[in-house]
Amino acid sequence: MAASATDKAFVEFERVQKSYDGETLVVKDLNLTMPKGEFLTMLGPSGSGKTTCLMMLAGFETATHGDIRIGGTSINNIPPHKRGIGMVFQNYALFPHMTVAENLAFPLEVRKIGKSEREEKVKRALDMVQMGQFGGRRPAQLSGGQQQRIALARALVFQPELVLMDEPLGALDKQLREHMQFEITRLAHELGITTVYVTHDQTEALTMSDRVAVFNDGRIQQLAPPDKLYEAPENSFVAQFIGENNTLTGKVETLSGERCTVRLDSGELIDARAVNVSAVGDRTKVSIRPERVEINKDRLSPDAHTLKAEVLEFIYMGDIFRTRLRVAGTDEFVIKTRNAPDQVRLERGQQIEIGWLAEDCHALDA
Ligand SMILES: Nc1ncnc2c1ncn2[C@@H]1O[C@H](COP(=O)(O)OP(=O)(O)OP(=O)(O)O)[C@@H](O)[C@H]1O
Ligand SMILES: [Mg+2]
Repeated sequence: MAASATDKAFVEFERVQKSYDGETLVVKDLNLTMPKGEFLTMLGPSGSGKTTCLMMLAGFETATHGDIRIGGTSINNIPPHKRGIGMVFQNYALFPHMTVAENLAFPLEVRKIGKSEREEKVKRALDMVQMGQFGGRRPAQLSGGQQQRIALARALVFQPELVLMDEPLGALDKQLREHMQFEITRLAHELGITTVYVTHDQTEALTMSDRVAVFNDGRIQQLAPPDKLYEAPENSFVAQFIGENNTLTGKVETLSGERCTVRLDSGELIDARAVNVSAVGDRTKVSIRPERVEINKDRLSPDAHTLKAEVLEFIYMGDIFRTRLRVAGTDEFVIKTRNAPDQVRLERGQQIEIGWLAEDCHALDA
């Protein structure tokens, strides 16, 4: 369910800080509000604090400062068995001495659910992950992917309101991974579960989530729906972390509302959208997606600034063409064009002109 479906805060982090050693903060002033039913992904480089946030939400770690609330109640005041949190971690740790069915029944036994209801719920959970035939096996008799599906079923079997998943698909091959991505989001939405999901994989984050929180250095750099994150990054970290981007550096030369021109360090003038710059003379990194670069001048406005470029490499990729250019002092400028019937195939050594719509080129912090 989309974030706008309800404005009630279900999960809240308020000014949360965490230090393990009493000196360095690994989570710095984290603020986050999630409505019920939202699927939120924490994405970010290694060591940026994602698992720490999940552990605090689960109650396994305590926040050094600030407050974490579930359904309006501070997590510190909710006893573990009343938290109603399902968890799937990367090392999915099924109980090895129990069968699959016993593994799934365990969280229900803990919650004092009677035998017949237990059996019914276990069956339903196994069917959900298409593992109905495997109830009698022990974890060691399953493949890695099957074990992960059982771990997922175990996290969902007691119909928790909140599920936390820390890289649950880490060990799977591409095909099974994509299947499980679909399965997890389908289940989460069908059951109305609020989900906090952690991954390193940006495609996974973009395809699965209602909103993505991009972490770096213990802070949320941007919290936004996938399309917003991709198309309107708020700072240069997010621009470079999400998807492929060309980066050029320069100084703001003119600034008028949302529009600016930037004098590149290589001397050329370009058009951009002023996203994270405040004054003429500011240093800036401008960021432009490979698929938003235009090689056909007729498609640009007559007064658009263009750049001269030399084709260094043309790669045929089937659905798209990927061309590397020497432009504005860099040899790493990449453009992507669709393999349409009328599309030109550029050749190495060719001299071309490129440009873009000002709104597609983001002037960000340097
Ligand atoms: N139990 C601990 N004791 C001390 N420091 C820790 C502990 N757990 C994590 N840290 C440190 O806290 C920081 C954040 O770690 P965290 O595990 O939250 O990162 P992460 O974003 O989950 O990284 P990854 O993507 O590699 O899993 C790291 O610098 C890490 O070394
Ligand atoms: Mg982690």
